[in-house]
Amino acid sequence: MSRSSYLFTGIFGSFALSCFALVLVPQMQIGGLTEHENADEGTRYPVVNTRQGREIYIREGCYYCHTQQIRDEQNGADIARGWGTRRTVARDYIFDDPPLLGSMRLGPDLANVGSKDWRNEEKDEQRKPAKRDRAWHLLHLYNPRVLIPNSPMPPYRYLFDEVKAGTAAKANVLPVIAKKKGHEVVPTAEAEQLVAYLLSLDRTEPLPEAGGTKPAASASAPAAAPAAPAKK
Ligand code: HEC
Repeated sequence: MSRSSYLFTGIFGSFALSCFALVLVPQMQIGGLTEHENADEGTRYPVVNTRQGREIYIREGCYYCHTQQIRDEQNGADIARGWGTRRTVARDYIFDDPPLLGSMRLGPDLANVGSKDWRNEEKDEQRKPAKRDRAWHLLHLYNPRVLIPNSPMPPYRYLFDEVKAGTAAKANVLPVIAKKKGHEVVPTAEAEQLVAYLLSLDRTEPLPEAGGTKPAASASAPAAAPAAPAKK
């Protein structure tokens, strides 16, 4: 063989090998994932999230500061913090296009922010009541510092309108002072859609491939610690 054909075979071989290892193998492993059927409750998981709110989440760049991926107990404190009951797996994202995993955590992980079990770090418990309902999220989006002093999260006031006092339904009025006199602050449709999306984020459904799921999983964490030195 001439030198150039060695070179060509080498280059082609590297591309073919990486294509096989990085595209074809993962496709064979997880490309055919389907919903998980819960035979006991007759439900399917995952469900499709509210599309419009997701678009706004993407447009506003929420994923620059927030991830949506829970690490298992060996690789981080995500579960201990209350961000989820189990690690997230490929099946959690089959309807997400693109999946909004995120890469940086300036704020907490939001993979399960809509689940009833979601908490943030324990020490924050007093300032941050466990219940994050629609009203809490709307107020937090309008001005995070009303709820979390010194929060570095930017306010999203342009997702809100000011209307003449008394014209909006009581349930829609935010407990803040409007800039214009005699006006009240109300959410726009986009703010509502974004909050609906946040409240739909719940990846706590037990999945066989995700390992421990119930509170028993966190109870096993301390037991793992003394076992570690034995490995040395
Ligand atoms: C510049 C980084 C940054 C961006 C961009 C950002 N956040 Fe945050 N976010 C934070 C930080 C830091 C916190 C923690 C402090 C706090 O709760 O305000 C937080 C907290 C939160 C929480 C509260 C979690 C809780 O219940 O305690 C939610 C929900 C949230 N962000 C949603 C969003 C959404 C939706 C967007 C996009 C519209 C967004 N964030 C954009 C940094 C950011």
